[in-house]
Amino acid sequence: MASKPGNSEPKVPKIVLNSGHKMPVIGFGCAAGKLPPLEELTSTFVKAMEVGYRHFDTSSAYGSEEALGKAVAKALEMGLIQSREELFITSKLWITHTHHDLVLPALKQTLETMGLEYLDLYLIHWPLRIKQAANAFKQEEGDALPFDMYGTWKAMEDCCKLGLTKSIGLSNFTCEKISKLLQSVTIPPAINQVEMNVGWQQRKLMPFCKEKCINVCAWSPLGASGTNWGSNAVIENQILKDIAASKSKTIAQVALRWVYEQGATLIVKSFNEERMKQNLQIFDFELSKEEKYQILQIPQRRVGRGDIFIQKNGPVKSVEELWDGEI
Ligand SMILES: NC(=O)c1ccc[n+]([C@@H]2O[C@H](COP(=O)([O-])OP(=O)(O)OC[C@H]3O[C@@H](n4cnc5c(N)ncnc54)[C@H](OP(=O)(O)O)[C@@H]3O)[C@@H](O)[C@H]2O)c1
Repeated sequence: MASKPGNSEPKVPKIVLNSGHKMPVIGFGCAAGKLPPLEELTSTFVKAMEVGYRHFDTSSAYGSEEALGKAVAKALEMGLIQSREELFITSKLWITHTHHDLVLPALKQTLETMGLEYLDLYLIHWPLRIKQAANAFKQEEGDALPFDMYGTWKAMEDCCKLGLTKSIGLSNFTCEKISKLLQSVTIPPAINQVEMNVGWQQRKLMPFCKEKCINVCAWSPLGASGTNWGSNAVIENQILKDIAASKSKTIAQVALRWVYEQGATLIVKSFNEERMKQNLQIFDFELSKEEKYQILQIPQRRVGRGDIFIQKNGPVKSVEELWDGEI
C-alpha cells in the first residue's frame, strides 16, 4: 500500500505563470530512449508521485501519455492525491500536427489517450511541420512542410479558450521566432521549454524571455547523460564535481540547483527511485557567487541541435536556420 507524501518529502516551490496558473518548478520527464512496458512505466510514474513529484512532462511523440494517464487514475484510486487539480500535466503537439486545423484534434486525442479532461499546459513541441504520415526521425525527401506559426498558435489559443488546456506555450523556439509570434497573439505563451544546462546556458534566450514574462523551462538539465540525444558533458564536469564534493551534494543536484537559481523551471527524468528522490533535494543549499562564476566558465555547446529534422531541400535547410543563428 502506497503512502501519501509525508513531511519528509521535499516541498517543491511553485511559480505563477503569465496565465495566472501555478506550476511546480521541478517537473518529472516522461521521455526515454526505450520505454519499459506499459504497466512498469505506470508504476514508475506512480512512484514519482509517491516521492513527491506533482508536475509531469510528456508529449504525443514520447509514447508515455497512456501510462501517465493510468498513473493519474491509480494515484487517485490509492488516495495518493485527492484530486486531479493537485497535478500539473504537460503534453506537446507533435510536428505532424502543427497546422491550424490539426491542433484541436491532436489535443483531443492526447486527452483521450490519457483519460483526462484537460491539460495544465500544451506546448508546440518544435517550430517545424512534416506530413502527417511521415516519421519525424526517419524523414524522406518531401516530408517536411512549411510551418505556419501564426495559424498553429491561433488554434492553440482556441484550445485554451475551450478549457482543454489551462496554459499554452512553446518548445525549442528562438528569440527571433518568439518576437514575431508576440506581434499577433491574444494569449501569450506561458513557457518556452528548451535545452538548458550548465553546458548550454541559454545566455541570449533567458534575459529575452524574462523581459517578455515567458518562463524558460529547461529540458535535459543534466545533459541527458546515457541517452542517444544527450552527452556526459554535465554529469562528468570537473567544476560541478568539485562544487558537489565541497557541499556534500551530488553533481546532478548542483546541476539542477544552477538551473533553478537562473530563474528557470526544469524537467528532469529518472526512472530510478533513488535518483528520483535525489533530484528533488535541491532546495536546502545555495551556490555561492564564486561557484556561479566558475560555472560561467564551462564551455558552451548546444547538444540537441535537431539535425535529424533538417532536409536540405526542405523549408528548414540547416541547423543555423532552425535556431535563427542562436547556436
Ligand atoms: N521539449 C523537448 O524538445 C524535449 C527534449 C528532450 C527532453 N524533454 C523533456 O525533458 C525531460 C528531461 O530531459 P532528458 O531526459 O533529455 O535529460 P535529463 O533529465 O537531463 O537526463 C536524464 C538522464 O540522466 C539520468 N539521471 C537522472 N538523474 C540522475 C542523477 N541524479 N544522477 C545521475 N544520472 C541521472 C537518467 O537516467 P536514470 O533514469 O537511469 O536515472 C537519464 O539517463 C525528458 O524526459 C522530457 O520530458 C523535452
